[in-house]
Amino acid sequence: MKREIKRIAVFTSGGDAPGMNAAIRAVVRHATYHDLHIYGILRGYDGMINGNFKRLETSDVGNIIHRGGTILKTARSKEFRTKKGRKSAYENLVAHDIDACIAIGGNGTFTGANVFSKEYDIPFIGVPGTIDNDLFGTDFTIGFDTACNTAVEAMDKIRDTADSHNRLFFVEVMGRDSGYIALNTGIGSGAGSVLIPEKDNDIDLLINHLKVGVKRKKLFSLIIVAEGNQNGGAMEIAAKVKEKFDHYDTKVTIIGHLQRGGSPTCMDRVLASRLGFGSVDVLIKGKSNGMVGILNGEVAFTPFDKAIKQSKALKGDLMNMAEILAL
Ligand code: F6P
Repeated sequence: MKREIKRIAVFTSGGDAPGMNAAIRAVVRHATYHDLHIYGILRGYDGMINGNFKRLETSDVGNIIHRGGTILKTARSKEFRTKKGRKSAYENLVAHDIDACIAIGGNGTFTGANVFSKEYDIPFIGVPGTIDNDLFGTDFTIGFDTACNTAVEAMDKIRDTADSHNRLFFVEVMGRDSGYIALNTGIGSGAGSVLIPEKDNDIDLLINHLKVGVKRKKLFSLIIVAEGNQNGGAMEIAAKVKEKFDHYDTKVTIIGHLQRGGSPTCMDRVLASRLGFGSVDVLIKGKSNGMVGILNGEVAFTPFDKAIKQSKALKGDLMNMAEILAL
């Protein structure tokens, strides 16, 4: 039987991403437009377990569309991974008469929602909010564009100083298991090489590539390294390269959590608004236990089972293009 939805809870979970606030705003305003009552849960699944619920009105989400971070706070909950934790979460949802939940987060968040939805009868809809852009079922995740813009801005600055000193820079960007930020930043900033977790990065090949650059009188070089690289992060790769090839004075920059903060780009604000809005739409239409995403410009629904288990492959032609353009 289709459940009548009257009260929805929304929360953010996992690593924060710029644009999460725009998504919360869209959920609250669209739900309110349909006369639904909406609650915010603070600190993700931990807040669900501890009963940290707060009624949200339309005015509570004013003046947040431009803000990074998340007004609902976030956490990576260990307790929700346990049956006991999920039971407490369910009891709190029932105590607040919650009929459905909207979870804004990434892979870990949806894995939790998927397990919960098989144990309890409260529907969950996921909104992809992660800078990693690694979710199957959406071309882009909320926060990815802002993170790439932050990284490109950093690269432009590093390029100035690398050029002035004739140095080789290894710049580490985020992406534990995914090279999306690295590849996009590499193309956008004209990096000499991009090292991603999806590919076995041969140090000798990289050195050969640098030697070709030296032959054609390249005085400095910028290499992007995704943090989850198979040969280690930027520090390790820089050390391995230096051991065999010390033509350049070498430096390392780790951009780190700078990529997670800051005001979202227009792209991310629009994406977050569309996905937050779309999540309420699909709930009203009776869908559950899946993620809304953008596929070929349209809002699309993908069941959690698919979204978390299938991996989104990097476009091979982009990697190829990045290599050719860096020659
Ligand atoms: O999943 C987003 C992400 O920023 C990854 O790119 C990174 O590996 C991880 O989160 C870092 O997480 P934390 O802030 O918990 O250290």
